[in-house]
Amino acid sequence: MTVMPPQRNRPAAKKPMWIIVLLCMVCVMLIGAYVYPPRKYSQCYLSASSVCTSFKDWLPSIGRREKTDEEIISAAVMKDILAMPMSASKSPKIALMFLTPGSLPFEKLWEKFLQGHEGRYSIYVHASRQKPVHSSSLFVGRDIHSDAVIVVWGKISMIDAEKRLLANALEDADNQFFVLLSDSCVPLHSFDYVYNYLMGTNISFVDCFQDPGPHGNGRYSLEMLPEIEERDFRKGAQWFAITRRHALLILADNLYYKKFKLYCKPADGRNCIADEHYLPTLFNMVDPGGIANWSVTHVDWSEGKWHPRSYRAEDVTYDLLKNITAVDENFHVTSDDQKLVTQKPCLWNGSKSPCYLFARKFYPETVDNLLKIFTSYTSV
Ligand SMILES: *[C@@H]1O[C@H](CO)[C@@H](O)[C@H](O)[C@H]1NC(C)=O
Ligand SMILES: *[C@@H]1O[C@H](CO)[C@@H](O)[C@H](O)[C@H]1NC(C)=O
Ligand SMILES: *[C@@H]1O[C@H](CO)[C@@H](O)[C@H](O)[C@H]1NC(C)=O
Ligand SMILES: *[C@@H]1O[C@H](CO)[C@@H](O)[C@H](O)[C@H]1NC(C)=O
Repeated sequence: MTVMPPQRNRPAAKKPMWIIVLLCMVCVMLIGAYVYPPRKYSQCYLSASSVCTSFKDWLPSIGRREKTDEEIISAAVMKDILAMPMSASKSPKIALMFLTPGSLPFEKLWEKFLQGHEGRYSIYVHASRQKPVHSSSLFVGRDIHSDAVIVVWGKISMIDAEKRLLANALEDADNQFFVLLSDSCVPLHSFDYVYNYLMGTNISFVDCFQDPGPHGNGRYSLEMLPEIEERDFRKGAQWFAITRRHALLILADNLYYKKFKLYCKPADGRNCIADEHYLPTLFNMVDPGGIANWSVTHVDWSEGKWHPRSYRAEDVTYDLLKNITAVDENFHVTSDDQKLVTQKPCLWNGSKSPCYLFARKFYPETVDNLLKIFTSYTSV
Protein backbone atom coordinates (compact mmCIF):
# COMPACT_ATOMS: atom_id res chain seq x y z
CA MET A 1 0.00 0.00 0.00
CA THR A 2 2.78 2.40 0.88
CA VAL A 3 4.41 1.80 -2.52
CA MET A 4 1.27 2.69 -4.41
CA PRO A 5 1.38 6.51 -4.45
CA PRO A 6 4.77 6.91 -6.19
CA GLN A 7 3.78 4.26 -8.75
CA ARG A 8 0.59 6.10 -9.51
CA ASN A 9 2.31 9.42 -9.73
CA ARG A 10 5.02 8.36 -12.12
CA PRO A 11 2.97 8.13 -15.34
CA ALA A 12 1.18 11.37 -14.41
CA ALA A 13 4.49 13.15 -14.00
CA LYS A 14 5.87 11.73 -17.23
CA LYS A 15 3.08 13.11 -19.41
CA PRO A 16 3.70 16.84 -18.77
CA MET A 17 7.45 16.32 -19.26
CA TRP A 18 6.76 14.74 -22.61
CA ILE A 19 4.52 17.65 -23.64
CA ILE A 20 7.02 20.26 -22.44
CA VAL A 21 9.84 18.64 -24.43
CA LEU A 22 7.67 18.53 -27.54
CA LEU A 23 6.60 22.16 -27.08
CA CYS A 24 10.23 23.22 -26.69
CA MET A 25 11.16 21.45 -29.91
CA VAL A 26 8.32 23.14 -31.76
CA CYS A 27 9.41 26.52 -30.35
CA VAL A 28 13.01 25.97 -31.39
CA MET A 29 11.87 25.01 -34.88
CA LEU A 30 9.64 28.06 -35.18
CA ILE A 31 12.38 30.41 -33.97
CA GLY A 32 14.77 28.73 -36.35
CA ALA A 33 12.39 29.15 -39.26
CA TYR A 34 11.92 32.82 -38.36
CA VAL A 35 15.59 33.67 -37.90
CA TYR A 36 16.91 31.43 -40.69
CA PRO A 37 14.13 31.28 -43.28
CA PRO A 38 14.45 28.60 -45.99
CA ARG A 39 16.97 29.65 -48.64
CA LYS A 40 14.40 30.27 -51.39
CA TYR A 41 12.86 33.03 -49.22
CA SER A 42 16.00 34.64 -47.87
CA GLN A 43 16.36 36.88 -50.93
CA CYS A 44 13.29 38.68 -49.60
CA TYR A 45 15.46 40.66 -47.24
CA LEU A 46 17.07 42.29 -50.24
CA SER A 47 14.75 42.32 -53.19
CA ALA A 48 11.36 43.71 -54.17
CA SER A 49 8.31 42.83 -52.16
CA SER A 50 6.48 41.08 -55.00
CA VAL A 51 8.92 38.15 -54.72
CA CYS A 52 8.32 38.06 -51.00
CA THR A 53 4.62 37.43 -50.71
CA SER A 54 5.25 33.83 -49.71
CA PHE A 55 7.68 34.92 -47.01
CA LYS A 56 5.14 37.39 -45.64
CA ASP A 57 2.84 34.42 -45.03
CA TRP A 58 5.26 33.29 -42.35
CA LEU A 59 4.82 36.49 -40.37
CA PRO A 60 1.86 37.36 -38.14
CA SER A 61 -1.14 38.67 -40.05
CA ILE A 62 -0.36 42.37 -39.40
CA GLY A 63 -0.56 44.50 -42.54
CA ARG A 64 -1.59 41.65 -44.83
CA ARG A 65 -4.96 43.09 -45.83
CA GLU A 66 -5.26 44.25 -49.43
CA LYS A 67 -6.07 47.94 -49.67
CA THR A 68 -9.41 48.87 -51.19
CA ASP A 69 -9.59 51.08 -54.31
CA GLU A 70 -10.87 53.90 -52.16
CA GLU A 71 -7.92 53.62 -49.80
CA ILE A 72 -5.44 53.64 -52.68
CA ILE A 73 -7.08 56.74 -54.19
CA SER A 74 -7.23 58.46 -50.82
CA ALA A 75 -3.60 57.65 -50.01
CA ALA A 76 -2.43 59.02 -53.39
CA VAL A 77 -4.29 62.32 -52.94
CA MET A 78 -3.14 62.74 -49.35
CA LYS A 79 0.48 61.98 -50.18
CA ASP A 80 0.62 64.90 -52.60
CA ILE A 81 -1.19 67.25 -50.22
CA LEU A 82 1.25 66.39 -47.42
CA ALA A 83 4.20 67.07 -49.72
CA MET A 84 3.05 70.68 -50.34
CA PRO A 85 5.68 73.25 -49.38
CA MET A 86 5.02 75.49 -46.36
CA SER A 87 4.13 79.14 -46.62
CA ALA A 88 3.88 79.71 -50.35
CA SER A 89 2.39 83.13 -49.62
CA LYS A 90 4.35 86.42 -49.42
CA SER A 91 2.00 87.85 -46.79
CA PRO A 92 0.83 84.85 -44.78
CA LYS A 93 -2.25 85.24 -42.63
CA ILE A 94 -3.88 83.36 -39.77
CA ALA A 95 -7.52 82.45 -40.31
CA LEU A 96 -9.51 82.84 -37.09
CA MET A 97 -12.58 80.67 -37.53
CA PHE A 98 -15.32 81.13 -34.96
CA LEU A 99 -17.80 78.30 -34.51
CA THR A 100 -20.63 79.69 -32.38
CA PRO A 101 -24.35 79.30 -31.76
CA GLY A 102 -24.98 83.07 -32.07
CA SER A 103 -23.32 86.39 -31.24
CA LEU A 104 -19.74 86.46 -30.01
CA PRO A 105 -19.41 87.98 -26.51
CA PHE A 106 -15.68 88.77 -26.85
CA GLU A 107 -15.52 90.70 -30.14
CA LYS A 108 -14.18 93.78 -28.33
CA LEU A 109 -11.41 91.68 -26.78
CA TRP A 110 -10.48 90.14 -30.13
CA GLU A 111 -10.46 93.65 -31.60
CA LYS A 112 -7.94 94.70 -28.98
CA PHE A 113 -5.88 91.61 -29.76
CA LEU A 114 -5.95 92.28 -33.53
CA GLN A 115 -5.45 96.08 -33.46
CA GLY A 116 -2.57 97.19 -35.67
CA HIS A 117 -2.12 93.81 -37.35
CA GLU A 118 -4.28 94.32 -40.42
CA GLY A 119 -3.31 92.08 -43.31
CA ARG A 120 -1.97 89.34 -41.06
CA TYR A 121 -5.27 87.72 -40.10
CA SER A 122 -8.72 86.99 -41.45
CA ILE A 123 -11.94 86.32 -39.58
CA TYR A 124 -14.73 83.84 -40.35
CA VAL A 125 -17.87 83.40 -38.26
CA HIS A 126 -20.11 80.35 -38.52
CA ALA A 127 -23.18 80.98 -36.38
CA SER A 128 -25.41 77.96 -36.27
CA ARG A 129 -28.54 79.16 -34.50
CA GLN A 130 -29.07 82.90 -34.73
CA LYS A 131 -27.64 85.53 -37.00
CA PRO A 132 -24.95 87.17 -34.88
CA VAL A 133 -25.04 90.83 -33.88
CA HIS A 134 -21.53 92.27 -34.17
CA SER A 135 -20.10 94.67 -31.62
CA SER A 136 -16.80 95.11 -33.50
CA SER A 137 -16.52 96.36 -37.06
CA LEU A 138 -13.79 93.77 -37.70
CA PHE A 139 -16.45 91.06 -37.57
CA VAL A 140 -19.02 92.77 -39.78
CA GLY A 141 -19.49 90.98 -43.10
CA ARG A 142 -17.46 87.98 -41.98
CA ASP A 143 -20.42 85.63 -41.47
CA ILE A 144 -20.44 82.42 -43.41
CA HIS A 145 -23.71 81.54 -44.98
CA SER A 146 -24.83 77.98 -44.73
CA ASP A 147 -28.12 76.35 -45.59
CA ALA A 148 -29.41 77.06 -42.09
CA VAL A 149 -28.39 73.61 -40.86
CA ILE A 150 -28.55 73.20 -37.11
CA VAL A 151 -25.17 72.27 -35.67
CA VAL A 152 -25.58 69.71 -32.89
CA TRP A 153 -22.84 68.97 -30.40
CA GLY A 154 -21.34 65.55 -30.98
CA LYS A 155 -22.97 64.99 -34.34
CA ILE A 156 -21.37 65.01 -37.76
CA SER A 157 -23.02 68.40 -38.40
CA MET A 158 -20.27 69.82 -36.15
CA ILE A 159 -17.60 68.42 -38.49
CA ASP A 160 -19.58 69.71 -41.48
CA ALA A 161 -19.55 73.20 -39.95
CA GLU A 162 -15.77 72.96 -39.43
CA LYS A 163 -15.35 71.89 -43.06
CA ARG A 164 -17.54 74.78 -44.19
CA LEU A 165 -15.32 77.19 -42.26
CA LEU A 166 -12.17 75.63 -43.73
CA ALA A 167 -13.55 75.76 -47.27
CA ASN A 168 -14.33 79.47 -46.93
CA ALA A 169 -10.97 80.24 -45.34
CA LEU A 170 -9.02 78.26 -47.94
CA GLU A 171 -10.40 80.55 -50.66
CA ASP A 172 -7.92 83.17 -49.45
CA ALA A 173 -4.55 81.87 -50.65
CA ASP A 174 -2.75 83.98 -48.00
CA ASN A 175 -4.32 82.03 -45.14
CA GLN A 176 -1.59 79.67 -43.92
CA PHE A 177 -2.78 78.65 -40.46
CA PHE A 178 -6.37 77.84 -39.55
CA VAL A 179 -7.52 78.23 -35.97
CA LEU A 180 -10.90 76.95 -34.77
CA LEU A 181 -12.32 79.02 -31.91
CA SER A 182 -15.57 79.02 -29.96
CA ASP A 183 -17.66 81.87 -28.60
CA SER A 184 -16.18 81.20 -25.12
CA CYS A 185 -12.52 81.38 -26.27
CA VAL A 186 -10.17 84.26 -25.41
CA PRO A 187 -6.61 85.06 -26.53
CA LEU A 188 -3.80 84.49 -23.99
CA HIS A 189 -0.93 86.34 -25.67
CA SER A 190 -0.22 89.31 -27.91
CA PHE A 191 -0.95 88.94 -31.61
CA ASP A 192 2.75 88.89 -32.49
CA TYR A 193 3.39 86.05 -30.06
CA VAL A 194 0.51 83.98 -31.46
CA TYR A 195 1.48 84.73 -35.07
CA ASN A 196 5.13 83.79 -34.59
CA TYR A 197 4.22 80.69 -32.58
CA LEU A 198 2.01 79.34 -35.36
CA MET A 199 3.96 80.51 -38.40
CA GLY A 200 7.27 79.37 -36.94
CA THR A 201 6.30 75.73 -37.07
CA ASN A 202 5.13 73.29 -39.70
CA ILE A 203 3.13 71.03 -37.42
CA SER A 204 -0.56 71.26 -36.65
CA PHE A 205 -1.85 71.54 -33.12
CA VAL A 206 -4.39 68.75 -33.02
CA ASP A 207 -5.10 67.09 -29.70
CA CYS A 208 -4.66 63.32 -29.91
CA PHE A 209 -4.27 60.44 -27.49
CA GLN A 210 -5.24 56.82 -27.03
CA ASP A 211 -7.90 56.24 -24.39
CA PRO A 212 -8.72 52.58 -23.69
CA GLY A 213 -11.68 53.63 -21.50
CA PRO A 214 -15.40 53.94 -22.22
CA HIS A 215 -15.09 57.55 -23.50
CA GLY A 216 -12.27 56.51 -25.83
CA ASN A 217 -12.06 53.09 -27.47
CA GLY A 218 -15.42 52.25 -25.89
CA ARG A 219 -16.92 54.44 -28.61
CA TYR A 220 -15.20 52.60 -31.43
CA SER A 221 -17.46 50.56 -33.71
CA LEU A 222 -16.38 47.43 -35.60
CA GLU A 223 -18.38 48.80 -38.54
CA MET A 224 -15.42 51.12 -39.15
CA LEU A 225 -13.45 48.11 -40.36
CA PRO A 226 -11.55 47.38 -42.48
CA GLU A 227 -10.13 50.88 -42.94
CA ILE A 228 -10.14 51.95 -39.29
CA GLU A 229 -9.02 49.39 -36.74
CA GLU A 230 -9.55 49.85 -33.03
CA ARG A 231 -5.81 50.42 -32.51
CA ASP A 232 -6.05 53.44 -34.88
CA PHE A 233 -8.89 55.07 -32.93
CA ARG A 234 -7.94 58.25 -31.04
CA LYS A 235 -9.50 60.96 -28.94
CA GLY A 236 -8.85 64.68 -28.55
CA ALA A 237 -10.39 68.09 -28.01
CA GLN A 238 -12.07 69.65 -31.02
CA TRP A 239 -10.29 73.04 -31.01
CA PHE A 240 -7.48 72.85 -33.55
CA ALA A 241 -4.87 75.10 -35.15
CA ILE A 242 -3.75 73.53 -38.42
CA THR A 243 -1.49 74.20 -41.39
CA ARG A 244 -2.87 74.88 -44.84
CA ARG A 245 -1.93 71.43 -46.09
CA HIS A 246 -3.82 69.81 -43.21
CA ALA A 247 -6.84 72.03 -43.90
CA LEU A 248 -6.82 70.78 -47.50
CA LEU A 249 -6.36 67.22 -46.32
CA ILE A 250 -9.51 67.42 -44.19
CA LEU A 251 -11.52 68.61 -47.19
CA ALA A 252 -9.99 65.93 -49.39
CA ASP A 253 -10.90 63.13 -47.02
CA ASN A 254 -14.09 61.33 -47.85
CA LEU A 255 -13.14 57.81 -46.88
CA TYR A 256 -12.62 58.22 -43.14
CA TYR A 257 -15.18 61.02 -42.87
CA LYS A 258 -17.86 58.66 -44.22
CA LYS A 259 -17.02 56.06 -41.58
CA PHE A 260 -17.51 58.60 -38.81
CA LYS A 261 -20.65 59.99 -40.38
CA LEU A 262 -22.20 56.52 -40.46
CA TYR A 263 -20.79 54.88 -37.35
CA CYS A 264 -19.87 57.60 -34.83
CA LYS A 265 -23.04 59.12 -33.42
CA PRO A 266 -24.20 60.22 -30.01
CA ALA A 267 -26.90 58.07 -28.42
CA ASP A 268 -26.35 54.92 -30.47
CA GLY A 269 -25.37 52.99 -27.36
CA ARG A 270 -21.71 53.93 -27.61
CA ASN A 271 -22.37 57.65 -27.51
CA CYS A 272 -19.61 58.37 -30.02
CA ILE A 273 -18.84 62.09 -30.32
CA ALA A 274 -17.61 62.71 -33.87
CA ASP A 275 -15.82 65.98 -33.11
CA GLU A 276 -13.75 64.30 -30.37
CA HIS A 277 -12.59 61.41 -32.56
CA TYR A 278 -12.65 62.11 -36.28
CA LEU A 279 -9.68 64.47 -36.64
CA PRO A 280 -7.44 62.81 -34.01
CA THR A 281 -8.05 59.43 -35.67
CA LEU A 282 -7.61 60.80 -39.20
CA PHE A 283 -4.28 62.50 -38.45
CA ASN A 284 -3.05 59.60 -36.36
CA MET A 285 -3.57 57.41 -39.42
CA VAL A 286 -2.32 59.63 -42.23
CA ASP A 287 0.28 61.99 -40.66
CA PRO A 288 1.04 61.13 -37.02
CA GLY A 289 4.36 62.99 -37.05
CA GLY A 290 2.67 66.12 -38.43
CA ILE A 291 0.61 66.88 -35.32
CA ALA A 292 1.67 68.08 -31.88
CA ASN A 293 -0.86 65.86 -30.05
CA TRP A 294 -2.04 68.76 -27.90
CA SER A 295 -4.39 71.68 -28.58
CA VAL A 296 -3.20 75.29 -28.20
CA THR A 297 -6.58 76.10 -26.63
CA HIS A 298 -6.51 75.59 -22.87
CA VAL A 299 -9.43 74.15 -20.96
CA ASP A 300 -9.59 73.12 -17.32
CA TRP A 301 -10.98 69.60 -16.80
CA SER A 302 -9.48 69.28 -13.32
CA GLU A 303 -12.88 69.40 -11.59
CA GLY A 304 -13.59 66.00 -13.16
CA LYS A 305 -17.12 66.85 -14.26
CA TRP A 306 -18.92 66.24 -17.54
CA HIS A 307 -18.26 69.86 -18.57
CA PRO A 308 -14.99 71.75 -18.10
CA ARG A 309 -14.59 74.60 -15.65
CA SER A 310 -16.23 77.84 -16.80
CA TYR A 311 -14.81 81.10 -15.51
CA ARG A 312 -17.04 83.71 -13.84
CA ALA A 313 -16.24 87.42 -13.63
CA GLU A 314 -14.74 87.05 -10.14
CA ASP A 315 -12.39 84.25 -11.32
CA VAL A 316 -10.80 86.37 -14.01
CA THR A 317 -7.68 87.87 -12.50
CA TYR A 318 -4.16 88.58 -13.69
CA ASP A 319 -2.99 85.58 -11.61
CA LEU A 320 -5.40 83.17 -13.29
CA LEU A 321 -4.34 84.20 -16.80
CA LYS A 322 -0.65 84.22 -15.88
CA ASN A 323 -1.04 80.72 -14.49
CA ILE A 324 -2.61 79.45 -17.69
CA THR A 325 -0.02 81.10 -19.94
CA ALA A 326 2.81 79.61 -17.85
CA VAL A 327 1.72 75.99 -18.37
CA ASP A 328 4.38 74.15 -20.40
CA GLU A 329 3.22 70.56 -20.03
CA ASN A 330 0.11 68.93 -21.42
CA PHE A 331 -1.59 65.94 -19.93
CA HIS A 332 -4.21 63.37 -20.83
CA VAL A 333 -6.27 61.16 -18.54
CA THR A 334 -7.82 57.86 -19.60
CA SER A 335 -11.51 57.35 -18.93
CA ASP A 336 -11.19 53.82 -17.51
CA ASP A 337 -10.99 52.96 -13.80
CA GLN A 338 -7.23 53.42 -13.80
CA LYS A 339 -7.52 57.11 -14.76
CA LEU A 340 -3.99 56.89 -16.10
CA VAL A 341 -2.35 60.32 -16.50
CA THR A 342 0.27 60.95 -19.16
CA GLN A 343 2.13 64.22 -18.86
CA LYS A 344 4.32 65.52 -21.67
CA PRO A 345 6.34 68.68 -22.20
CA CYS A 346 5.03 71.04 -24.90
CA LEU A 347 7.86 71.10 -27.42
CA TRP A 348 8.02 74.02 -29.84
CA ASN A 349 10.85 73.77 -32.38
CA GLY A 350 12.41 71.18 -30.10
CA SER A 351 12.39 73.07 -26.81
CA LYS A 352 9.94 73.20 -23.91
CA SER A 353 7.58 76.16 -24.34
CA PRO A 354 4.22 77.46 -23.11
CA CYS A 355 1.49 75.20 -24.47
CA TYR A 356 -1.42 77.57 -24.87
CA LEU A 357 -2.34 80.52 -27.09
CA PHE A 358 -6.08 80.61 -26.32
CA ALA A 359 -8.30 79.53 -23.45
CA ARG A 360 -11.92 78.58 -22.77
CA LYS A 361 -14.51 78.60 -21.28
CA PHE A 362 -15.25 82.15 -20.20
CA TYR A 363 -18.75 83.42 -19.42
CA PRO A 364 -19.76 86.57 -21.38
CA GLU A 365 -19.82 88.47 -18.05
CA THR A 366 -15.98 88.22 -17.90
CA VAL A 367 -15.47 90.57 -20.85
CA ASP A 368 -14.96 93.78 -18.84
CA ASN A 369 -12.37 92.21 -16.54
CA LEU A 370 -10.58 90.67 -19.54
CA LEU A 371 -10.46 94.00 -21.39
CA LYS A 372 -9.06 95.68 -18.27
CA ILE A 373 -6.19 93.22 -17.77
CA PHE A 374 -5.54 92.19 -21.41
CA THR A 375 -2.54 94.47 -21.91
CA SER A 376 -0.87 93.40 -18.67
CA TYR A 377 -1.30 89.62 -19.00
CA THR A 378 -0.20 89.56 -22.64
CA SER A 379 2.81 91.83 -22.25
CA VAL A 380 5.62 89.36 -21.60
C1 LIG B 1 14.46 76.48 -34.21
O1 LIG B 1 15.58 75.97 -33.56
C2 LIG B 1 16.78 76.07 -34.30
C3 LIG B 1 17.88 75.37 -33.54
O2 LIG B 1 17.74 75.52 -32.16
C4 LIG B 1 17.09 77.55 -34.54
O3 LIG B 1 18.27 77.66 -35.29
C5 LIG B 1 15.92 78.16 -35.31
O4 LIG B 1 16.12 79.54 -35.49
C6 LIG B 1 14.62 77.93 -34.56
N1 LIG B 1 13.52 78.38 -35.36
C7 LIG B 1 12.68 79.34 -34.99
C8 LIG B 1 11.60 79.68 -35.94
O5 LIG B 1 12.80 79.92 -33.93
C1 LIG C 1 9.16 70.47 -40.61
O1 LIG C 1 10.36 71.18 -40.51
C2 LIG C 1 11.45 70.41 -40.07
C3 LIG C 1 12.63 71.34 -39.94
O2 LIG C 1 12.24 72.62 -39.63
C4 LIG C 1 11.72 69.31 -41.08
O3 LIG C 1 12.76 68.48 -40.60
C5 LIG C 1 10.49 68.47 -41.26
O4 LIG C 1 10.70 67.53 -42.27
C6 LIG C 1 9.31 69.34 -41.63
N1 LIG C 1 8.14 68.51 -41.63
C7 LIG C 1 7.28 68.54 -42.62
C8 LIG C 1 6.09 67.64 -42.45
O5 LIG C 1 7.41 69.25 -43.60
C1 LIG D 1 2.28 62.57 -31.79
O1 LIG D 1 1.98 61.22 -31.51
C2 LIG D 1 2.36 60.34 -32.56
C3 LIG D 1 1.86 58.96 -32.24
O2 LIG D 1 1.81 58.72 -30.88
C4 LIG D 1 3.86 60.38 -32.73
O3 LIG D 1 4.25 59.53 -33.77
C5 LIG D 1 4.27 61.81 -33.04
O4 LIG D 1 5.66 61.91 -33.13
C6 LIG D 1 3.77 62.77 -31.98
N1 LIG D 1 4.04 64.15 -32.40
C7 LIG D 1 5.02 64.88 -31.90
C8 LIG D 1 5.21 66.23 -32.47
O5 LIG D 1 5.72 64.47 -30.99
C1 LIG E 1 -1.78 80.23 -9.66
O1 LIG E 1 -0.82 79.20 -9.41
C2 LIG E 1 -0.34 79.20 -8.08
C3 LIG E 1 0.78 78.20 -7.99
O2 LIG E 1 0.46 77.00 -8.64
C4 LIG E 1 -1.50 78.87 -7.14
O3 LIG E 1 -1.04 78.86 -5.80
C5 LIG E 1 -2.58 79.94 -7.29
O4 LIG E 1 -3.72 79.60 -6.50
C6 LIG E 1 -2.99 80.03 -8.75
N1 LIG E 1 -3.89 81.21 -8.90
C7 LIG E 1 -5.02 81.16 -9.59
C8 LIG E 1 -5.85 82.39 -9.58
O5 LIG E 1 -5.37 80.17 -10.21
